[in-house]
Amino acid sequence: HAPVITVDGPSGAGKGTLCMLLAEKLGWKLLDSGAIYRVLALAAIHHGVDLESEEALVPLAAHLDVQFKAEGELVKVILEGEDVSGELRKEETGMAASKVAALPRVREALLRRQRAFSETPGLVADGRDMGTVVFPGAEVKIFLDASAEERANRRMNQLQQKGLDVNFGSLLSEIQERDDRDRNRAVAPLRPAADALVLDSTEMSIEQVTAQALVYIEQ
Ligand code: CDP
Repeated sequence: HAPVITVDGPSGAGKGTLCMLLAEKLGWKLLDSGAIYRVLALAAIHHGVDLESEEALVPLAAHLDVQFKAEGELVKVILEGEDVSGELRKEETGMAASKVAALPRVREALLRRQRAFSETPGLVADGRDMGTVVFPGAEVKIFLDASAEERANRRMNQLQQKGLDVNFGSLLSEIQERDDRDRNRAVAPLRPAADALVLDSTEMSIEQVTAQALVYIEQ
């Protein structure tokens, strides 16, 4: 089978940027598994499905009609024919995603879809349980962490660059609420795989993180 590099960690640790750079550098495919949970949450909201109803969410997950279309640097996300790329990145969508992601049978229903991303020459998989559940046999596993304050700071800078006015305190408490849910759920709780390299990026630039990851991958 094709080689896989998994990058797991909490929200805002820099996984997305690291994975994009690694995939580009290696010429490998990219799986943004968080986007799949986000799309499912949006599908539930659009169809008026309760975010805590496992029974109603499982069939929605199994038949999710989503396409990821690469457009230059960006990826357009099409849900049931509608471009949801903008809605997808909102804080409230992330929060809704963490609710549907806590349900065991919902995660189960999305497993095959995620594994289908694996193809030659290789895959870089970004998420929470890539190294522990989805690709336990991955060649290289990285767990990227950072303090909650630093992650809230980075998120605030990102949003400010988009011209959005945000409050640090509310960002921090949202990050902490999502962390708690991701770490304490019954299935696939957020934690490093036993064989993962743990990188704390609190005091590192993205260049430093990428350089360390590349040294580790090439070993
Ligand atoms: O971009 P950010 O790190 O804030 O979030 P994301 O990676 O898009 O993930 C959104 C939510 O989906 C997370 O808070 C998790 O609850 C869930 N998720 C998951 O459970 N398993 C994954 N492999 C990826 C995301």
